[in-house]
Amino acid sequence: MAPFRVVSVGSGNWGTCVAKIMAENTRENPLLFNQEVKMWVYEEEFEGRKLTDIINEDHVNAKYLPGIKLPDNLKAVPDLLEAVKDCNIIIFNIPHQFLEGILKQLKGNIHPKARAISCLKGLRVDENDVELLSDIITKELGIHCGCLAGANLAIEVANQKFSETTIAYPLPSDYVAGDLDDTVLYTLFHRPYFHVHIVEDISGVSIAGALKNIVAIGVGFVDGLQWGENAKASIMRRGLLEMIKFGELFKPDSKVATFCQESAGVADLFTTCTGGRNFKLAYRMAQTGKSANEIEEEMLNGQSAQGLITAKEIHELVKNRRLTDEFPLFETIYQILFHGVSIGILPYMLENKWSVS
Ligand code: 13P
Repeated sequence: MAPFRVVSVGSGNWGTCVAKIMAENTRENPLLFNQEVKMWVYEEEFEGRKLTDIINEDHVNAKYLPGIKLPDNLKAVPDLLEAVKDCNIIIFNIPHQFLEGILKQLKGNIHPKARAISCLKGLRVDENDVELLSDIITKELGIHCGCLAGANLAIEVANQKFSETTIAYPLPSDYVAGDLDDTVLYTLFHRPYFHVHIVEDISGVSIAGALKNIVAIGVGFVDGLQWGENAKASIMRRGLLEMIKFGELFKPDSKVATFCQESAGVADLFTTCTGGRNFKLAYRMAQTGKSANEIEEEMLNGQSAQGLITAKEIHELVKNRRLTDEFPLFETIYQILFHGVSIGILPYMLENKWSVS
């Protein structure tokens, strides 16, 4: 059996962090994996040098994960097709708005038997329906795709502080012995500081990973106004219920247990609502009165807060499906973000509008 070859498509803070984990594991399991983990890096200059040169020579992603030593078997590659060449495990880890362009370039240019894992926290939502990003990857590239999400703030994982994650990977219908399976995934991702739990519920993991970012914005708003711990807990509770409701209505195969028991569910919700980018952005909005875009530019070093896009997309969808009343928290957050509605009205918007059965 030839060893698996692994590539990370994406090199932001989380992309680099996951690639680091995989490189640590491929080095320890040379029979199962090719040692070198490739990482596609969108080439840019940083402090007068190419980012790929910095990663390959200094073994640090100085722009997106500064101060974290990367294994020397992690190789930054600026050419996307060169990066994925011959790789049969492809990990997607880019902001979800770039997925479509990346898939166009990859189509017809990947290993025909490749399998994929999406670490993207998002959904593709149009005015009438929801698609999982893993399903889009499968549809566009013709390869089976699972997903990984959890309470995983990149900087903590990069510093090897303990956390857990969830990987959703039902075996594909064309599975044959020696193919990517739970054992291989566990060996690739599990570390003493990064505990992996494998489930089958791709819908639940994907929905939770995307929607908790909206909830984190709500928590950032009330915390920015210093409404206290009870208010934050209320927003999290209502947010969790709206996430579950969304699953019931749009992806009925999602499991309540995933939301309530997995790292990708309730634990990621807590983490994101206390220390995530969306929380911090909303907190600053509430404190300064500035717009989301202004704060994003000031705070995020060229990266984006996914919750802003997700809040807008979910609003369009539920409005078109006449389901707005089912999601009073999501709707209120949308109105605050995009229509200048005052944060102060949040409790009134939630009052008497709660209809989760
Ligand atoms: P951010 O990258 O938006 O901070 O995400 C937090 C998160 O997803 C924690 O699991």
